[in-house]
Amino acid sequence: MKFSCALLALALALIAAGPPPSAKEGATIVAHGTASGALPCMACHGGHLQGNPAIGAPRLAGLDPSVTLAALKAIAAGKMGKNYVMTNIARSLSPTQRRAVAAYLASLPSSS
Ligand code: HEC
Repeated sequence: MKFSCALLALALALIAAGPPPSAKEGATIVAHGTASGALPCMACHGGHLQGNPAIGAPRLAGLDPSVTLAALKAIAAGKMGKNYVMTNIARSLSPTQRRAVAAYLASLPSSS
């Protein structure tokens, strides 16, 4: 009885956590965008994700996942940023896609 309760709790915890974010999926989104219309992040944030000051796109490489996720949330909510393309991109990314991108960006060196 005790054992089956522990198994049930474990199963519920796994369901709640969802699948682990895939940095590989993140790399695809960053380079090619998404089927739902997000442009490739590299187009504005630079080929090495080091940012493009000319258009006000900040460096993304090496950001902690919590920073990327918080920024995407704030941008999607209209509380941060003034680039409407970026706003639409943040709105179009699913939670899974956001986690995948965040995991990939964190894996990159913060300077090239
Ligand atoms: C059309 C150009 C453009 C594209 C494409 C683009 N961004 Fe951005 N992004 C910006 C700009 C400009 C900002 C600065 C905030 C603003 O003005 O909206 C920004 C800000 C951000 C920030 C906040 C970073 C920080 O530290 O403040 C994140 C995270 C981000 N973008 C992620 C992405 C991701 C992920 C993609 C690809 C799915 C992407 N961006 C595609 C232009 C772009």
